[in-house]
Amino acid sequence: MEGEEMFREFLVQSLSAHTTGDFTSLLEAGRLDVVYQCILTSIFKSRSHRHDVVFHAILNGPPRPPMHLSISGDELRDARVDERSWENILRNVLNGRSHEGVNLTKSSLQGVIKEKSTEGYSIFLLDMEGEPFDPGDLSENNFFVLGDHIGIPRKDSKFVLRYGKRVSLGKEEYLAATTIDIVNYLIDRRPD
Ligand SMILES: C[S@@+](CC[C@H](N)C(=O)[O-])C[C@H]1O[C@@H](n2cnc3c(N)ncnc32)[C@H](O)[C@@H]1O
Repeated sequence: MEGEEMFREFLVQSLSAHTTGDFTSLLEAGRLDVVYQCILTSIFKSRSHRHDVVFHAILNGPPRPPMHLSISGDELRDARVDERSWENILRNVLNGRSHEGVNLTKSSLQGVIKEKSTEGYSIFLLDMEGEPFDPGDLSENNFFVLGDHIGIPRKDSKFVLRYGKRVSLGKEEYLAATTIDIVNYLIDRRPD
C-alpha cells in the first residue's frame, strides 16, 4: 500500500498491570512502567507525536481486571514524555478522572480483537516465531498485538490468530517497547 493514508494501532496484553490508581510508582503497580514505555514508543517522536497511532493496553492486574486503556495520538493533549507525567496521567485515569485523549473502559483482549476485526482492521500478532514482518503487507488500518515483559499466554495468542497472522522481527527477543519502535520505524521508511 503506497501513497495512501495508513493507520496503526498497538495493543499490549499486560498480565499484571494494576487496575486502580492507588500506587506509589509505575514499577510497583504490576509493571505499569512497561505500559508507559510502550506508550512512549507508540506515540512519541522527538519533537512531536504521531497523530495516526492509537495505543491500547489490557490491564489484567488487581482489583478489577480486565480494563482497556486506550490513548489516541490524535486526541492526546497535555502530555510530556517523562515517566512522572505519565505516572500522574495513569493514576488520574485509573482513579476515574479524565485526561483528553486517554480512555479507560471495561473490556478484555478478546473483546477488543473482535471489535477491531468487525471494523475491518488487519490484525498482526508480533511473535518471534512468525513469518518475517513485511510493511508491504499492510492495509489501511493495522492492529498489532504484543505481549508484555512476561510474554503472551498461549490461549491469548491462539485467540488472536483466529483473526490475524503471526509476524516476526527476527530471532532476537526485544522488549515490548523496542518491538513497537522497530515496527514504527519500518512503517515510517516505506516509500511514499
Ligand atoms: C519482552 S518480549 C516477551 C518476552 C517473554 N519472555 C516471551 O517469551 O514472550 C515482549 C513482546 O515483544 C514482542 N517481541 C519481542 N521480540 C520480538 C520479535 N523478534 N519479533 C516479534 N515480536 C517480538 C512479542 O510480542 C513479545 O511478547
